[in-house]
Amino acid sequence: MVRKLNIAVIGMGYVGITTAASLGEFGHQIIGVDIDEYKIEQLKKGGLPIYEPGVEPVIRKLLKQGALHFTTSMKEAIDGAEILFIAVGTPQFSDGRPNMSYVEDVATEIGRYMTEYRVIVDKSTVPVGTADHVKSIITVQLKLRDVNVAFDVVSNPEFLQEGKALQDARKPDRIVLGCSSSIAIDLMLKVYEIVDAPKLITSPRDAEMIKYASNGFLATKITFINELARLCDRLAVDVAEVAKGMGMDRRIGTHFLQAGIGYGGSCFPKDIAALAIMGRGVSMEMTILQSVQEVNRTQTDWFLDKVKACMGGLDGKRIALLGLAFKPDTDDIREASSLKLISGFLNEGAIINAFDPVANHKIRHIFPNINLTVCAYQAVKEADAVVICTEWKEIINLDWRKIKSLMKGDFIFDGRNVLDRTMLQMEGFQYRGVGRNLS
Ligand code: UDX
Repeated sequence: MVRKLNIAVIGMGYVGITTAASLGEFGHQIIGVDIDEYKIEQLKKGGLPIYEPGVEPVIRKLLKQGALHFTTSMKEAIDGAEILFIAVGTPQFSDGRPNMSYVEDVATEIGRYMTEYRVIVDKSTVPVGTADHVKSIITVQLKLRDVNVAFDVVSNPEFLQEGKALQDARKPDRIVLGCSSSIAIDLMLKVYEIVDAPKLITSPRDAEMIKYASNGFLATKITFINELARLCDRLAVDVAEVAKGMGMDRRIGTHFLQAGIGYGGSCFPKDIAALAIMGRGVSMEMTILQSVQEVNRTQTDWFLDKVKACMGGLDGKRIALLGLAFKPDTDDIREASSLKLISGFLNEGAIINAFDPVANHKIRHIFPNINLTVCAYQAVKEADAVVICTEWKEIINLDWRKIKSLMKGDFIFDGRNVLDRTMLQMEGFQYRGVGRNLS
């Protein structure tokens, strides 16, 4: 097969690796770039520094076909690719602002080495105005070199969900292309030629806002149902039934209405904070987003209070936490609700047993004083209560009769409303969900 476009993906983190894999699958010739030599050596051997189902085999296949190679040399990437995707991290400062220095460093390097027309694509989640900022950084570098090289900057935000990233990349709901140059748009349409998805061509600023607005809205939707769940608990209403009934209205939809112990991850908390800060930057308080942050922050406190009240205090009680990642199918624990719960339980004097199918190694160094186990059955031994933090399939499908027989107590706190309440009650558990306090 003739490879269509030469594309460099700069930044071999979660977004970059998945982007490189999917662009390779679309038939392009890919260069993956990172300054981290260890990471590049690992990738060259087909190993992944991230956990994402399905990506490793694609990377290995592309390596074997010669359709993908990795380098630490920015110059090599800039010389060899007509399209340069920036997929470096934008970690959060303590005040909530994204740290743009990695994006700026990449833009500087591009300006330093670029010798002919290039399309620079912002894939990282970046504040409104970043495409213009990247453009001005490159322009400054070109001026310093006293050369005149044409280029365009495109904002092409990613909407990948961890755990389903490849699936999302292969079949996205939409592709957003923020760009004002017809040459760049034509090239970008070629990049995604074989992808069957609506393509929205808009301005870079609109594209940048679409990403934040989408995450802000999804986080708001989750938070709405979470706050409602607290009310449902008080009024003996089942929030799961309410969400089902609401979701039947096509204007509302069923997605992201699963009540639980709060959203986490690398995107929602960071993006909601960044959006609120963008508002403040133009003297505008984003009151909805501030409430979303507050309700999400207190959702685990509310849940902890509930567990404490049900169990008549937590001092000396053994709690088994099942699922620690911020969501299933990932080992990512960034902003995971489990972290807040573990701290809360420990402060109350509880003894913690915990298990996650893949994230144990990341929890170990944060909480050296908890008992991490190799399986769920070990975690529940002699436990007074089981708490579900993450809805891994293998946790939902545990043998609950066996769990009950291994425990000392009979409480089960379903932090994700995913277990079969009736079945558990028949097995002798005292079941408590989020917003389903019906017993
Ligand atoms: C999110 C966006 O979905 C994605 O488009 C963007 O590119 C990155 O941020 P991700 O962080 O991978 O993706 O996870 P997502 O599946 O959206 O879940 C985020 C959090 O919300 C998780 O903690 C999840 O448990 C929680 N959640 C999700 C709920 O509590 N209830 C729901 O109904 C859905």
